[in-house]
Amino acid sequence: MNFSRADFPEGFIFGTATSAYQIEGHGFGGAGPTQWDSFAATPGNVVRAENGAVACDHYHRMNTDLDLLADLGADAYRFSTSWARVLPDGRGQVNEAGLDFYDRLVDGLLERGIKPAATLYHWELPSALADLGGWRNRDIASWFAYFTATIMGRIGDRVWSAAPINEPWCVGWLSHFDGHHAPGLRDIRATARAMHHVLLAHGQAIQVMRDLGMSNLGAVCNFEWSQPAGNAPETLRATATYDAIYNRFFLGGLFKRSYPTEVLVGLGAHLPRGWQDDFDTIATPLDWLGLNYYTRKLIDHAPGPWPNYREVGGPLEKTQMGWEVYPEGLRDFLIRTAADYTGDLPLYVTENGMANPDTHNTPDTARIAYLTRHLDAAREAIAQGVPLKGYFTWSLMDNYEWALGYDKRFGLVHVDFDSLQRTPKASYQALAKWWR
Ligand code: FCB
Repeated sequence: MNFSRADFPEGFIFGTATSAYQIEGHGFGGAGPTQWDSFAATPGNVVRAENGAVACDHYHRMNTDLDLLADLGADAYRFSTSWARVLPDGRGQVNEAGLDFYDRLVDGLLERGIKPAATLYHWELPSALADLGGWRNRDIASWFAYFTATIMGRIGDRVWSAAPINEPWCVGWLSHFDGHHAPGLRDIRATARAMHHVLLAHGQAIQVMRDLGMSNLGAVCNFEWSQPAGNAPETLRATATYDAIYNRFFLGGLFKRSYPTEVLVGLGAHLPRGWQDDFDTIATPLDWLGLNYYTRKLIDHAPGPWPNYREVGGPLEKTQMGWEVYPEGLRDFLIRTAADYTGDLPLYVTENGMANPDTHNTPDTARIAYLTRHLDAAREAIAQGVPLKGYFTWSLMDNYEWALGYDKRFGLVHVDFDSLQRTPKASYQALAKWWR
């Protein structure tokens, strides 16, 4: 990996990302049950029905993991806070041990000179709130505001940045339309409501954090570059619909106070009454936008009801997830996002990385190549004037990859899930060489 820090603008931030449920060990420290625990316990949802009860046991091994970050030379660390660890029932009684845990995490980062980049919600909704309809219930915006005030009342004075919700598309579409993530619904009305409420909750949380006097607040969205699998008009239409649902819906809400027509065609009738009046909250001004990017999708027309698209396998090199490697999509998203939505607003790549069937002693050369090509793509966007200010790899260490369990390894650090032993991979060494 032939980079030096001088290849990026001065002050460019390099870091890694993780999330609470994927690494902490949700069985420890008084965390309440979450929708991911029950989703995983339902046969057929998750590979081998694995869950996050132990995960990487980061809860007890935090200092080891923070030392790994420091040795890597990371400037910043993007972590998430578990709602159910802080508020086991989602509301009401606080779990003091949970607040203490995030307090120690933030202080541990600062002691090592690493900037704490917090995400409030990365998918483990407390079961008590799922029982009330979760993201389908409009009240989730005020429940989430309460959680935001509780956790940020404790750590908000020391975090470097904060974003309310990781990947609204996954919270809304993947979990309520595709049914691939908790709560595993396949219902168009639930989808419309979840997609709107997730933005409403985002906006209210931003306002709560502003009122606490916090700054450097953003949003983190995920993107997949969609390309037509042919030239037929219905194929082009299907590709535009996919792009609108995945990539333009949330940006539209956040930055244009509107939703794309291709989405309203299908979801419009199912959105909650008065949704148009929520944009004052949804579009509360931000200080930055984070882009999570992994792959592209080839799209074709599908018969039947809206959205009339299907994914088609492509010919490019694939990762362990079966995702095609397409760095050009990262460059093009950065350029398009700045041009169409965010202008001069600072952008960050908040997740990028690949899964590989790594062992603790085989060099992960494929990951080094993947990261190199995506960092080159980021540099191309910067050269074209995109105000990109930082780049976070997913992930610091192998972890619980949601519905795919512990098989898919995204880490710069190998984790043996029996002994929980951490072993830095060749990609970690390659980054450390120029980050440190
Ligand atoms: C992203 C998620 C993250 C991880 C990576 C591979 O969509 O934010 O938790 O699962 O994909």
